[in-house]
Amino acid sequence: MSQVYMKLLDNNKAWVKEKLSKDPDYFLRLSKLQAPDYLWIGCSDSRVPANEITGTQPGEVFVHRNIANMVVHTDMNMLSVLDYAVNVLGVKHVIVCGHYGCGGVLAAMGNQQFGLIDNWLRHIKDVYYLHRNELDAIADTEERGRRFVELNVMEQVMDLSKTSIIQNSWKNHKRPTIHGWVYDLKTGIINELNVLMDGMEDVSGVYKFEDKKS
Ligand code: CO
Repeated sequence: MSQVYMKLLDNNKAWVKEKLSKDPDYFLRLSKLQAPDYLWIGCSDSRVPANEITGTQPGEVFVHRNIANMVVHTDMNMLSVLDYAVNVLGVKHVIVCGHYGCGGVLAAMGNQQFGLIDNWLRHIKDVYYLHRNELDAIADTEERGRRFVELNVMEQVMDLSKTSIIQNSWKNHKRPTIHGWVYDLKTGIINELNVLMDGMEDVSGVYKFEDKKS
């Protein structure tokens, strides 16, 4: 009996055939080296696939996804991905890409309980609290949600800049540049936010680490 999921494995075979027909060495070459220029931190949402919406191919983007594209400083998964991308792969750009209509962000805007995930959403609620004056002043709920998505992305960009991983790389290698983007599910267009960070001058106060004494 044919199972629905079998479609995926059939698709895979068809994809391999197509790739090989254009380039017989395609997989051999990719298997030898991974040298992506980009680290993508995006939402797990199935409608926001990093490669597809940016027209990039396997090998071009190192990807980390979680609910609402969060940079949580106690998240070993995120930190490990970031450290590997920055210090081993040497990515030139880190992109935090959120999306309008993000279920995680919208859930964090309300008061309903959802279970375990409430602990993850707490980090997003903190972003709301930080920007409550601006957000509370937006009467239209959908409009407020869109702005909250943007502010959440900006905060995650800043959270990246607060890691020693990023700060040490800026000092030693003058990379990566950190970008904040928002994808619009309704149009497919990515909106670039005005939040580019690429050096220590963008970090201030207690977040700025001194050089490590050896
Ligand atoms: Co989302």
